Amino acid sequence: PMIYVVTPTYARLVQKAELVRLSQTLMHVKNLHWIVVEDSPLKTQLVSELLAQSHLRFTHLHVETPKEHKRKESDPNWLKPRGVEQRNLALQWLRENRQLSDQGTVYFADDDNTYSLQLFDEIRSTKRVSVWPVGLVGGLRFERPLVENGKVVGFYTAWKPNRPFPVDMAGFAVALQLLLANREARFDLLAERGYLESSLLQSLVSLEELEPKANNCTKVLVWHTRTEKPKMKQEELLQKQGLGSDPNIEV
Ligand code: UGA
Ligand code: MN
Repeated sequence: PMIYVVTPTYARLVQKAELVRLSQTLMHVKNLHWIVVEDSPLKTQLVSELLAQSHLRFTHLHVETPKEHKRKESDPNWLKPRGVEQRNLALQWLRENRQLSDQGTVYFADDDNTYSLQLFDEIRSTKRVSVWPVGLVGGLRFERPLVENGKVVGFYTAWKPNRPFPVDMAGFAVALQLLLANREARFDLLAERGYLESSLLQSLVSLEELEPKANNCTKVLVWHTRTEKPKMKQEELLQKQGLGSDPNIEV
């Protein structure tokens, strides 16, 4: 069965570095289809070329986040949900281009996280919705589902523990068939902070149905790493003197 990896991405200084790292992880995974959705009014050359050169099976889409939902440079990072319309477009693409008879698992993999190859072995056998721990998230060393007798009975989490599904985007995968059978299930652009994952999962499963992976959710195989914004102080100073770096060299 296929693993569909859905990645929203947007232009910024570190974009290429993030996508190179992620693509070079995905190259080691068999039967993988990467759905990359740019948050932009057009497909960019940078992403197009990166995908073409990757030798991965991919689909390249784009949709711009509506202006009123987009974070401004001055806004704190958490003010607005990110990557929502992009993930929903990928869901639409899957519903239009795949049938109930197609087997597969859908995983929402942000461009900045760190993924162990072992994670993809765990994901592949997802029946409905599978879950596992995520490292370095929620103000903790890790968050994880709590498992008793092979069943998820709750969550180890500290931030907003009353969320219906207190899991990060990186901590679950959904069977393609379940998404095709529930055609209305999608991420809610208006979801309150922390409730984005729940907005999708609520219409797909109940807690008792969750399938624990990664040795009953005792192994961390994905990390919610976040890349520091590079400082461009010297670049800006040089630019003012007309000595900025060569714009033809892509970073
Ligand atoms: C956390 C979760 O890990 C995300 O999955 C979730 O979307 C986000 O919170 C949220 O609440 O919306 P965080 O690390 O803060 O993540 O988010 P980012 O990594 O900055 O963004 C998530 C994804 O959306 C990334 O793949 C990023 O490239 C993309 N994105 C971000 C856009 O497509 N457009 C943007 O304007 C910003
Ligand atoms: Mn992130």
